[in-house]
Parts: sequence; C-alpha cells; structure tokens
Amino acid sequence: MDNESIFWRDLSNPPLKLDRGKGVYLFDEAGNKYLDAASGAAVCSLGSGNSEIAQTLKEQAKELSYAHMSKFYSQALADWTDQLISVSPDNLTKVHPVSGGSEANETAIKLARKYHLERGNSKKYKIISRATSYHGATLTALSLSGKTSRQEEYAPMMSPNPKISPAYCYRCPYNRDPDKCSLECASDLERAIVQEGESTIAGFIAEPVSGSSAPGVHPPDRYWGKIREICDEYGVLLIVDEVMSGMGRTGKWWAIEHSNVEPDIISTSKGLGGGYVPLGAIIVHDNIHKAVKDGEGSMHHGFTYGGNPVCAAVGSKIIQIMEREGLVGRAASMGERLLQSLRDSLGDHPYVGEIRGRGLLIGLEFVKDRTTKEPFEKSLNLPRRLRQSCLNHGLYVYPGGSPVNGQKTTQTMIAPPFIIEEGHIEEIVNSLLKSIGEVFD
Ligand SMILES: Cc1ncc(COP(=O)(O)O)c(C=O)c1O
Repeated sequence: MDNESIFWRDLSNPPLKLDRGKGVYLFDEAGNKYLDAASGAAVCSLGSGNSEIAQTLKEQAKELSYAHMSKFYSQALADWTDQLISVSPDNLTKVHPVSGGSEANETAIKLARKYHLERGNSKKYKIISRATSYHGATLTALSLSGKTSRQEEYAPMMSPNPKISPAYCYRCPYNRDPDKCSLECASDLERAIVQEGESTIAGFIAEPVSGSSAPGVHPPDRYWGKIREICDEYGVLLIVDEVMSGMGRTGKWWAIEHSNVEPDIISTSKGLGGGYVPLGAIIVHDNIHKAVKDGEGSMHHGFTYGGNPVCAAVGSKIIQIMEREGLVGRAASMGERLLQSLRDSLGDHPYVGEIRGRGLLIGLEFVKDRTTKEPFEKSLNLPRRLRQSCLNHGLYVYPGGSPVNGQKTTQTMIAPPFIIEEGHIEEIVNSLLKSIGEVFD
C-alpha cells in the first residue's frame, strides 16, 4: 500500500488513485477510463492535461515562483488581474487574489465589514445568507452555508448568521408558481434585515446558480433585481458567491450577468485556476475600494499564497484560451444541448423530479414520487451509490443536495468541461441512464 500516510476525508472509503487526465477523460492506475462529467467539482473547465497551460506553469515557475504580497508582486499578477477585470461587470474594478473558494468568501465578508467601518457604520457586521447553500469549509463560510450535515458536529463553533428562504422554485417554500409569484423568497431578505436590525447588517451572500447544495437551481432572473433594490435600500452589500458558477460555467462570464444586476463583490475560484493551480479572488466594486483607500488604507487581511505568480500566470493563460476558443459561448450552447438531451432521455423517468441548470451547471433531483415530490430517505445514500454506479460505467458525476425546507434531498451535479463534444454528451446520457436504472429501479 502506498497510501498509509494519507488522512482520508472518508476513512472507510478511500478514493480511487488516478494516473493521468487528458481532455474530458481521467484514467486510474488500473487503466480504467472515466468521462469527467463534473470537472472534478466544477473546477477543470478546460479539461485535463492542457499542454499550453503546463508550459505556462513551467515557465513562470522558472522565472519567479513566489512573491509575498505584503511587499512584492509580479507582472504575472498584474496581467491576470487586468484580464479578470476586463471580463467582469463595469464597476467592479479591483481584484484581491486568494487561493480558493472559502478564502474568497472569508475575504469578501471581512471586506464588507471593513467597508462599513470606514463609512462610520461600526454596528454593521452581520452577513445574511440563504438556507440550502454552500459557501465553504472554513468556520465562518460554513456558518453561512445551509449544509446542515456538514455543520452539525461543529455547531458550538458556528457563528449565528441569519438565514433566509432558498430561492428554490421546484420546492418553493411559499408554494407559488415561479412565473407569477411576487418573489416572496426575495422579500424574505427585507424581513430578515428588519428583524435583525437594519443598522447591524453588513452584507447578503448567495450563489446566483447554486452549486453542490442544489446543483443548477436558480430563481427567475427578476429575483436579483429585487434583491439589489432591498440591499440598496438598507445599505447592505450584495456579495455573489460565484466560486462554482463563475468563469463562464453558466454560459456567461458571471452567472449574475443573466439578470443584468451589478453586485458589490464577486467571490470566485474553481474555474479560475481550472484545476491546474489553486486560485481564487474577490472582484470588488470601485466604491468599496475607494472607501478603504480614503479611510485607513489597509485591509488587515491576507493569505500566504494570495497573488502567487505561478497561479496568476496560469489564471491569465486560462482567460486567454477561453477568449480565443470562445469557451463561454460554448458552455452556453453545449449546456443547452446537454440539458435537452437529459430531459429527452430522463424527463419521464418515475424517479427524476427535476432536471434544471444553466450552461454547464446542471442538476438532477430524484424523488420517490413525482406528484408529491417526496424525497428518498437519507439512509439510502443514493447520491453516493449513483456516483459509484456511474464510475462502474465509466462516468464521473458529483453527488449534491442539502436539506430544502427541512427535508433531505437526493441530487446529482453534471458539470463537464467546456470542451465537451456531441459524442461526450451521448456518452454521459447513456451511462447515466444505465446507472439510474441500476440504482433506482
Ligand atoms: C459556491 C461555493 N462556494 C464556496 C466553496 C468553497 O470553495 P473551496 O472548497 O475552494 O474552499 C464552494 C466549493 O465547493 C462552492 O461551491
């Protein structure tokens, strides 16, 4: 055994050892081939083994491998932040680099607090988030999340952040029709602000298209207009967590762009480094930067690997390739085809409740009964069993889902690399059909 020294996440269920990856495929040490229909965890947007990116990594590592941001920075960092700004909403003009999604969210909420302090609103510190959400594994990001199974053991260490209703039309907590509703789920933000005390709320954080907690779930686009209005009325910063939905995954650079709403902060990661390097960022509205600049002029915050030149160089190369190859548009068009194909093949399946998504961030929700939407028992462990069955059929999918309105749900995320082709879509759907048959029937 060559793995005795690894402290596994799940000690009773060690993962498969992979040897290599090429394009949309991964190969294990026994030579088995898997179509990576989840891009790892919606990370490897450009697929594996890209030689241009590997070359960039090598060259930058030889040139300058590290620069601590307290005193140094690199040309690679300057180039990457410029490029990131060029694909971001107009008034989001500054990037603070980090190494992952939890780091990005921690940074975003600390900056929200800092912004209010600089403006003399020292009582504003609470961050509101949504039930049914995931914002990261660090304690505050986890406190903001709605994944109760991950929080239970750490309950005494969780910070008591207020939560509002999820924007989850399939299981609408208000039993409304999404085409006709008055966006009660958005109004719930106003209720929470007023209840908690307007003068205490620093920000609201949410995923524009949900990731692992509710793959592919997204509210009607008008939801975000209402959220923006409420945030503006009460002086609350709007932070969109685009750790998973950003960098083109939903068919636009940022999922919030589907609604024409400009947030105050975008936190992002995953596709930023594409699986080649750990890379994350917050992209910040000019007004927030100005408040800090005109105020104390310092954030009292930073991570050792933030702004790493090798990661930044890879980040630049990824944006360059995405623009050259039109990969954001490709995520939109291939996403539509994949969604349609899944609906054509599985839409009438007795245990498939909903197939939804945007671009290449797609989720399947399984139910015991399509009429009542009754979920399966947690003890059946269906998302993981489905993942295993898919692996047996040469396909990798990501188990998802968290409680909605207090009920455990069974969901799976399909989020393949943007370079997938028609034939891969067929392969995904065929393997899924076989596995769903095996596991559910
Ligand atoms: C929406 C969202 N936010 C935050 C995170 C946390 O990112 P990381 O695991 O890189 O810390 C994730 C990870 O899955 C995520 O999907």
